[in-house]
Amino acid sequence: MSTSTPILSLGRSSFGNPENKGRLLSDEEAHALLNDWVPNERLRLHMKQVGAVMKAWALEREGADQQEARKWEQAGLLHDADWEKHPESHCRVIIEELEKQNVDPEVIHCIASHGPKYFGVEPDNRMDKMIYVFDELSGFIHAAALIRPTRYEGMDVKSIIKKLKTPSFAAQVNRDDINDAISRIDTPLEEIIQFIIEHQKDVV
Ligand SMILES: [Fe+2]
Ligand SMILES: [Fe+2]
Repeated sequence: MSTSTPILSLGRSSFGNPENKGRLLSDEEAHALLNDWVPNERLRLHMKQVGAVMKAWALEREGADQQEARKWEQAGLLHDADWEKHPESHCRVIIEELEKQNVDPEVIHCIASHGPKYFGVEPDNRMDKMIYVFDELSGFIHAAALIRPTRYEGMDVKSIIKKLKTPSFAAQVNRDDINDAISRIDTPLEEIIQFIIEHQKDVV
């Protein structure tokens, strides 16, 4: 959710300590942080959905092993951790926390690049680019699911494309950000939407 994010340029492009490469929070630690920092259930769900989609993409499309996929998942899971309690400093607070906790710099850079226009950090590698792609679209697709009686059941890509072209639907979702993110990868929007529907429908 970088939608109504105030512009907070982080003013730096290097994050974390290279010595921490490969170091992640345990799943228990990551979920404890999530529950502690994010009382809002819907936001928590958004973060879990992005985490699940990131992990699935790493495994299925990037040939990542389990450890690498956990990196993708953790970046997705924690990317908005400070949004609820520190909206004015969104991104900076969680980044500094993860630096303090000696988390892998790639995870921190990935979180820092989930809204280049807002945080002033360009997505570099595949993980960075995909979090930028998935973030807004995941939230948008979930908003579409919520207004359907059958939720994700029977949802098709075309209906999502149509809603993207309807400015009044989920108006807070910035279509320019979505287009910008998609323009940086070589997978068509339709395929990304299908992937998100499949992989976030069962996340609770
Ligand atoms: Fe988000
Ligand atoms: Fe965000």
